[in-house]
Amino acid sequence: MIVTPWEVSGKIDYDKLIREFGVEPLTIELLERIRKHAGTLHTQLRRKIFFSHRDLNWILDEYEKGHKFALYTGRGPSGPVHIGHIVPWVFTKHLQDVFKANLFFQLTDDEKFLFRQETNIDDSHHWTYENILDIIAMGFDPKRTVIISDLKNMQRLYEIAIKVAKHMTFSTVKAVFGFQDSSNIGIIFFPAVQSVPAFLPSATSGKSVPCLIPAAIDQDPYWRITRDVAPKLGFPKPAQIHSKFLPGLGKGGKMSASMPETAIFTTDAPEVAERKVMNAFTGGRATVEEQRRLGANPDICPIYSYEYFLFMEDDKEIEQLRRNCMSGHLLCGDCKQMLVQRVKPFLRELQARRERAKDHVDEFLAEKKGLNLPE
Ligand code: TYM
Repeated sequence: MIVTPWEVSGKIDYDKLIREFGVEPLTIELLERIRKHAGTLHTQLRRKIFFSHRDLNWILDEYEKGHKFALYTGRGPSGPVHIGHIVPWVFTKHLQDVFKANLFFQLTDDEKFLFRQETNIDDSHHWTYENILDIIAMGFDPKRTVIISDLKNMQRLYEIAIKVAKHMTFSTVKAVFGFQDSSNIGIIFFPAVQSVPAFLPSATSGKSVPCLIPAAIDQDPYWRITRDVAPKLGFPKPAQIHSKFLPGLGKGGKMSASMPETAIFTTDAPEVAERKVMNAFTGGRATVEEQRRLGANPDICPIYSYEYFLFMEDDKEIEQLRRNCMSGHLLCGDCKQMLVQRVKPFLRELQARRERAKDHVDEFLAEKKGLNLPE
């Protein structure tokens, strides 16, 4: 198994990741504390899609003392958004709604320019704009959200970035990210840039504000080094809550934009998404007779995962789906059709929201509104 910000491959063992990354599992006690404040437990928590954390108990301690936390999440805009990316965004929106939290949303267009040989600056700007439409379409509160493109706002980030960089050595980033002597010097500096928004809630308000970062676990290496630097700059260490990966439509592996036939993009025409779903791997049996007799395995099936992660919110319904799959009651073709019936209206609605978002972009941009959000 390989899990880095740039590569996720092999069979992911999340318990092993918890040990290797030195993070904490989300315990029942913590979930109950969240339920107490949120009034409900979000599907992604009930289903352990968000499964581990750092310092979430501290975030809740502070909240209970009356210190609100801010949220920070992001996107590296190298192409269209797929439905895997929106897994942490759906949850981030939920946290913003229930905790009335400010959100700093970073678009690391510099990262994608630096990391991808084939990407030019115009591509980076183009995908930043396109991805901003998806972010706005998620329904974040414009009063409590600021979207920061690194390329457009570096002058607002640079002072903190160089303070961070002064405390990060080349040997640390080499060890954490696998950089080589042949790596370009831009990417060696870049981890300092991704640290900055974790400190903005405190830096912009002039007091210590806890920051919580929801993201899939691939981003964790950034937070490890950010947390080491935080006290040296007088900022609180940012806390994290980590999600699992939505798989791609092929056999194994996370959904990734680099394999477009196995990803469902938010901009895919509903009929294109239908074709992709109908062609997906399921792990079902070779014949109908075998499937009826032996049943199939939902744990290796991306179709089941999409229902589980995003589309089928009712716990009883998902449990029934699981049973029907394992008992051979449900055939893969019918199951795919059921998903198609959910994915198509979902995409139509999201695409309509993306269109409407075009009139609201300025309400979110750091270059228009600055970085200060209300208390
Ligand atoms: P990026 O663009 O690779 O991914 C954006 C967000 O989506 C998560 N993610 C997934 N979640 C579930 N299933 C998947 N298959 C899947 N693929 C990606 C990522 O963990 C991420 O949360 N360097 C970052 C951009 C960034 C950022 C941040 C991300 C800057 N600051 C703060 C999270 C939090 C990047 O390239 O993300």
